[in-house]
Amino acid sequence: MEVTNRNQILELLSISSSLFGENYHNSNYFKSSNKDCVIAAYLKNEIIGFLKMITLENNTTKIDCIAIKKKFQRKGIGSNMLSFYFKKHHKTKNKIIAHAWKSPMGIHAQKLNEKFGMKLKSELGKIWQNECGHTFICPFNKNSCQCEAILFST
Ligand SMILES: CC(C)(COP(=O)(O)OP(=O)(O)OC[C@H]1O[C@@H](n2cnc3c(N)ncnc32)[C@H](O)[C@@H]1OP(=O)(O)O)[C@@H](O)C(=O)NCCC(=O)NCCS
Repeated sequence: MEVTNRNQILELLSISSSLFGENYHNSNYFKSSNKDCVIAAYLKNEIIGFLKMITLENNTTKIDCIAIKKKFQRKGIGSNMLSFYFKKHHKTKNKIIAHAWKSPMGIHAQKLNEKFGMKLKSELGKIWQNECGHTFICPFNKNSCQCEAILFST
């Protein structure tokens, strides 16, 4: 389901804070535009995850963020959201890219990205370190940024 109202945005902010840390996203992040597509996954009346896709230049579409509430992870919901996006919204032959998050726990979306045809292309380093611990509070920050970005691409 697409995101349209304030209550939905508050639910999405709460999921984002619990997984990425407070202030990682703000409410504007969840507003769709002609270049951005935000999809929420519902279970009954509860939002349990979201996906944001961005169309970039050079015939490229980026999985900007995909997040599933902790207790609903590993149940196929992330895969379902991406399948839904590719079936309903992705009408071009654009290349798909993602910046996967490598924390001390490993590369979080590696299997998911590989399942949708992306391959690990390069390590981008600590691209979040200027903001991490300052503008948002990452759960993995230990007085300094611990996470690296990994570029995946089809
Ligand atoms: C990454 C994430 C979106 C995956 O969503 P999900 O609903 O749990 O994924 P699925 O259940 O569809 O699983 C997709 C594949 O990844 C694998 N997988 C999922 N979580 C995994 C984990 N923690 N460790 C290893 N493999 C994992 C699954 O086994 C599955 O592979 P399979 O179909 O071959 O069995 C979710 O775990 C999440 O929200 N993580 C925290 C936020 C995050 O890191 N987002 C990505 C960066 S923006």
